[in-house]
Amino acid sequence: MKATEAKFALHGGPRAVNDPDLTAWRWPVFDAAEKAAVASVLERTGGDLYSEMTTFEKELCAYFGCRYALTCNNGTAAIHSAMHAVGLQPDDEVITPSYTYWATSLTTRLVGAVPVFADVCPHSANIDPADIERRITPRTKAIIVTHLWGMPCEMDAIMDIARRHKLKVIEDASHAHGAEYRGIKIGTWGDIGCFSMQGSKLLPAIEGGFLLTNDYDLYAKACALGHYARVPADSDLHAINSTGLGYKYRIHPVATALARIRLRKLDAQNRHITRRVEKVTTRIEKLPGIHPFRAPSHMKRVYYQFEVIYDESETGVPKQNIIEALQAEGARVTDERYPLQHRQEVYQRAEFWPAGLPEPGSLPVCEDLHGRILQLPNFATCEESVVDQYLAAFEKAWAHLRTV
Ligand SMILES: Cc1ncc(COP(=O)(O)O)c(C=O)c1O
Repeated sequence: MKATEAKFALHGGPRAVNDPDLTAWRWPVFDAAEKAAVASVLERTGGDLYSEMTTFEKELCAYFGCRYALTCNNGTAAIHSAMHAVGLQPDDEVITPSYTYWATSLTTRLVGAVPVFADVCPHSANIDPADIERRITPRTKAIIVTHLWGMPCEMDAIMDIARRHKLKVIEDASHAHGAEYRGIKIGTWGDIGCFSMQGSKLLPAIEGGFLLTNDYDLYAKACALGHYARVPADSDLHAINSTGLGYKYRIHPVATALARIRLRKLDAQNRHITRRVEKVTTRIEKLPGIHPFRAPSHMKRVYYQFEVIYDESETGVPKQNIIEALQAEGARVTDERYPLQHRQEVYQRAEFWPAGLPEPGSLPVCEDLHGRILQLPNFATCEESVVDQYLAAFEKAWAHLRTV
């Protein structure tokens, strides 16, 4: 056995990464100012509890460069509100990715519509505009896209298809706070952009969400669904202002207080994460079988999560063995974590889909790519030395590839 092999953790050698508390993954971390903001909410009396909500909405409009923002209690509620606002009806079809969180596609059910799954682009894992166009039928009314892991979708092509076929576009931007496409913020390209602020997200409020739009009618309709007492006075929907439509989607004041501070830090935080992810990418992409998801120059991506493609044919080593070797080194690298939506049981039971079962469809690119993805931490809050240790773990594992 060579000396280098003897040091391989899988074979009993020392670990390359000493990060027992998984600080590489630690998120969110709230600082003293954020804790004080939460405490200040608890000290307020009744009427003042919600005063920050509209201030935050103005701040969101200023940051994203859009006219209307509506906070919600989570991202799922924001997407439901968007589906309602764009006028989806029972029987309508909505083209959606399968490689996403369930709230993107399953919320179609809440308006009686049916999801139609489209395939992805192999270089981005985002919905493929050409496949969107292939799946349009006379029933198609909207497209919902997810900017997966922080990589913007091809919005020029998607908006062009939507215009030609008179379809509404909802962006699920829950992974992409601060990302841009041609210098314009993600979440403001479509008719409505929806964001989650659940604790793992780049703008973490523990739970929370919001939607953005430049269209006053869409804003008023979204208010009417889940925000009683907030339906604009000059909207004809104001008549139902005292009740709304039976949902209650108001954001929690603690979430608002956290989100206001986190929004101010978002750009610096995204720059910090991007610098670290790029440092790792530049080194590990030299290893055989590792292919990063790189954003083309007209996009500014962010890193909600850091994924790379692992191509087993270039190393001859199965992905699970690589994961095992890296984990033995102390590097928490995993399989990616989203099951594909079109394979989920909930889409296969007629009892849940009065307008007809969604087509399971054929998504060859998505199915192939999904099995080849590795997830790394995005190193948002750890020490720089931990980033270096992860690099050492990869290089060590690859030096021992034949024995993995
Ligand atoms: C892509 C995507 N869409 C929607 C959501 C739903 O957001 P929430 O958990 O705030 O309801 C999430 C959250 O995990 C998500 O990742």
